[in-house]
Amino acid sequence: MNLDSSLSDLAYQAGFGNEFSSEALPGALPIGQNSPQKVPYGLYAELLSGTAFTMARGESRRTWMYRIKPSANHPAFTKLERQLAGGPLGAVTPNRLRWNPLPIPAEPTDFVDGLVGMVANNACDKPAGISIYSYRANTSMQRVFFNADGELLLVPEQGRLRIATELGRLDLEPLEIAVIPRGLKFRVELLDAQARGYVAENHGAPLRLPDLGPIGSNGLANPRDFLAPTAHYEDTQQPITLVQKFLGELWGCELDHSPLNVVAWHGNNVPYKYDLRRFNTIGTVSFDHPDPSIFTVLTSPTSVPGMANLDFVIFPPRWMVAENTFRPPWFHRNLMNEFMGLIQGSYDAKAEGFLPGGASLHSCMSAHGPDAETCTKAIAADLRPSKIDNTMAFMFETSQVLRPRQFALECPQLQPHYDACWASLPSTFTPNRR
Ligand SMILES: [Fe+2]
Repeated sequence: MNLDSSLSDLAYQAGFGNEFSSEALPGALPIGQNSPQKVPYGLYAELLSGTAFTMARGESRRTWMYRIKPSANHPAFTKLERQLAGGPLGAVTPNRLRWNPLPIPAEPTDFVDGLVGMVANNACDKPAGISIYSYRANTSMQRVFFNADGELLLVPEQGRLRIATELGRLDLEPLEIAVIPRGLKFRVELLDAQARGYVAENHGAPLRLPDLGPIGSNGLANPRDFLAPTAHYEDTQQPITLVQKFLGELWGCELDHSPLNVVAWHGNNVPYKYDLRRFNTIGTVSFDHPDPSIFTVLTSPTSVPGMANLDFVIFPPRWMVAENTFRPPWFHRNLMNEFMGLIQGSYDAKAEGFLPGGASLHSCMSAHGPDAETCTKAIAADLRPSKIDNTMAFMFETSQVLRPRQFALECPQLQPHYDACWASLPSTFTPNRR
């Protein structure tokens, strides 16, 4: 691989053990070994493990960093007074829930303060499960953050972000996503006045590309479109706060230097971004349509083959050509649990009520599908090829039931009459006319 690659040269192939490297100063990477007695430029070598040391080679994630000061150079962390919003998990409910978008706060709010826990299906100290947040921000972080509880999948809905990480910078805009490995330090800066979006915190196996099975070696998200940053370091001595989330709680300490001080790195435990517009969408060219798993961008597997801890699935613009077919997502009840969000436009199963920045939750075996208006139109439609355009909905799908946090059950954005969108479905059954 090349050193000093441009962003696009550093394609990230999840799950295949590929090694990537980057150096901000020529010759900063040690050659032929990871931790020599004397590192070039007087740097310190440090290993960041994203998986257990003994993980199978194909699943192993780790990165060597060559930095101005090692991460160990910090005082004790103390628990912060201001903790994450969202509160503890609320009452269990089998009901279908839907939320309007949360407003962006008026007071100065950075990415960490603007995180609101919405739902979760496991405690942060368990080696599986996910937690889902909404984020809202109107101020760049002046501090640096890392998450000991899992990797973070960021899905912006509005506002561009610059994510300055230990391994370099990722600029992100709506319709792109980013994944930040567990423990990697980063600062979210706003490139627009305000920002809002979704975060899936993955406590389980790191996200990777799904297998393609009979689809073959091409299609869906292509490995070359996953981009990792190039090395970029800050050699500053101003005081800065380092915040970590540890078992769900925020702790902080004061450093006398920037922790984003990695001059060179190599490994495969890296942050990366992906442009959802590059997704090679696959669907039917005859009749009916495949399960939505055909739209999986990334997956966090469990020990049960085919049963994900987290699937990140998108519903992008696409042609609908199926003949003699009910074209919207069918009515169904799912073993898995579905948390949906909308990045732009509208979603083809809902005529109204599901808004960009909003969300819905359909838990295990909860019955759902197109609303009455969409359903009636679909049955009456003249089925010519048509394109669903200006849309990007997504789903965080998980095998464990998601419980809403107290905030999500009590906030005014929770829609009180979501069930009503199916209430007016008429009975069209006519036993004497097939
Ligand atoms: Fe569904």
